[in-house]
Amino acid sequence: MLLFGGDYNPEQWDAPTWAEDVALMREARVNAATVGVFSWSCIEPREGSYRFDWLDATFERLHNAGVAVILATPTASPPPWFSLAHPDALPVRADGTRLVHGSRDTYCAAAPSYRQAAARVATKLAERYAGHPALVLWHVHNEYGTMCWCDHAATGFRTWLQQRYGPAQQGLDELNEAWGTAFWSQRYGDWEEVLPPRATQWLANPSQTLDFRRFWSSELLRAFVEQRDAIRAHTPAIPVTTNFMLSDTPVLDLWEWGREVDVVAIDHYPNSRGSSAYDQIALAADMARSINQGRPWLVMEQAASTTVEDHAVVHRPPGRTLLDSLAYIAHGSDSALFFQWRASRAGAEMYHSAMVPHAGPDTRIFREIRSLGHALEDLNEVSGSTTDAEVAIVLDFDSWWAIEARRVLPARVQYLDGVRADHRAVTFAGHLCDFVPADGDFSRYKLVIVSNTYVLSDEAAHGMHQYVRNGGCMIVTCLSGVVDSSNTVRLGGYPALLRSLLGVRVEEFHPLARGELVPLCGGGYGSVWSERLEAHGADVLDRYETGDLAGGPAITGRAAGSGYAWYVSTRLSDERNNLLVLDALAAAGITPALAKLGPAVHGLLRRKGSGHSWQFWLNYGDTTVDVPTRGYDLLLHRPVPARVELLPGAAVVVRQDGAP
Ligand code: GAL
Repeated sequence: MLLFGGDYNPEQWDAPTWAEDVALMREARVNAATVGVFSWSCIEPREGSYRFDWLDATFERLHNAGVAVILATPTASPPPWFSLAHPDALPVRADGTRLVHGSRDTYCAAAPSYRQAAARVATKLAERYAGHPALVLWHVHNEYGTMCWCDHAATGFRTWLQQRYGPAQQGLDELNEAWGTAFWSQRYGDWEEVLPPRATQWLANPSQTLDFRRFWSSELLRAFVEQRDAIRAHTPAIPVTTNFMLSDTPVLDLWEWGREVDVVAIDHYPNSRGSSAYDQIALAADMARSINQGRPWLVMEQAASTTVEDHAVVHRPPGRTLLDSLAYIAHGSDSALFFQWRASRAGAEMYHSAMVPHAGPDTRIFREIRSLGHALEDLNEVSGSTTDAEVAIVLDFDSWWAIEARRVLPARVQYLDGVRADHRAVTFAGHLCDFVPADGDFSRYKLVIVSNTYVLSDEAAHGMHQYVRNGGCMIVTCLSGVVDSSNTVRLGGYPALLRSLLGVRVEEFHPLARGELVPLCGGGYGSVWSERLEAHGADVLDRYETGDLAGGPAITGRAAGSGYAWYVSTRLSDERNNLLVLDALAAAGITPALAKLGPAVHGLLRRKGSGHSWQFWLNYGDTTVDVPTRGYDLLLHRPVPARVELLPGAAVVVRQDGAP
């Protein structure tokens, strides 16, 4: 079944509203509600004293209405009593400011009192609702991602570092070496001297910063695992997840996290109203699916219309809720869930849209929600099916963190911009794109794009050599392979361990000024970054046309073993990158699973082992498109003999074997 529904907060409402809620849920075909996300102060109003009456009643009401419960642990928002009782568990910023309650996420996840309280409330919930027939999924916490630089964080960091580098003096020597502490007199003589990268006078140590990011991701993971295991002890058959936020600078290493959740769930809020909303959806969805190892995953939150963030209010245009929901599903999601069911009357997100708006059910938004619910009922047979991709992009959280450790590289060099551009090029060519870790298994793909993979371990580099020699095609883009896992430069020219594979040597970086474009002789231009590149065995496929690098190689290619590897020494303009990726796809011998019918029309395929497959066609453009397809239209309940007319903003889902 495809899950449809959203975060449900009955604690914000009264009895007549609860009755209307279930009636409207039925009407809209809601089949799942996420309860309890921020309900800690209602569940445990005083330390150690619990109130479940309202939650018991919510379970019963939802169950009687045929709505399954996704039960959240409320640990993303400790109640005020908690911060007064445990002031040491309040979060501290890098500049030493201690925050107080009054919002949400006011805790330090490394504070023992917080961890105990979180595990305790999770256990109480699991004891209470184990065996309840409405319970289908656990949703631990909410969007793990809050950071802290307090003394608890410092203690945890030192323990983590001792595990990485070894205890005692020898471990400290290793750490001094790995962090390059000979620079600026940072040598540590005692473990107690080692701190999180707190506010300091001038630039921070990039190796320390990278290790702190890694530590914090794993500290949050330990907090998640404690709750997960406490819950599993009571409900071993109910899957456990948490909702990931795919933000511009991630706090979590999602490859690591993906192994610990039973199913990957993401929250996603595109901020574009135009056709590029699809690019954002495809990127997030492809990441979620890949982190879930190709299996169906969940959209845990999306917005029915406006999101309110940083004073920028973005609304979803009419019709988009269905189109976007089907886009996630086409990319492998088995749900369309929302934040939230009913729009709050008060609180920081009072103007955030919801499935039931302030104006009530007689609204454009609720009508669209109702149509979506009915449409999803028609698509239930798709759930559990998977997708196939022959192209992958490397997604590397170390590189993301290291590139964005401020002021080592210019702020305009953003890791995700490089990944996004390459993902857009694969999408433009009509291919589904997976993501893969830098040291992952590339063998299932015919083309892998190593997109600004700045941190490269020996093992990852070795795997890349093997992949190409065994026949793989690989595009490596600028700023890859520059540093080792300690964030220390590899000497002799970049991209170091990949030089012999690519047949190139980067001698010098030429960062480009904001807005500066360097034309290439073969058309298009580079921006943001460029490099003085020498070909040592590679063919020069394009050169810089003007500027200090005029006449020098910009793009190279080289056959290695039975594969082929390109190197791109700048951030290419979209048109130029599209051409390069099309060339690479052709060289790899891959054609799209479904014909490409224009830049804003997207065709995707989901399959089930049994031989069933479903075509999803999504029109994000503003012209009607004639789609050649045959089978059975699941939304309009009719056979499709040869083609369908796809109106702007419309979607069609066609079962391939035709039988109703
Ligand atoms: C999510 C969060 C929700 C709500 C929503 C608003 O990131 O999990 O609780 O704040 O954003 O867009």
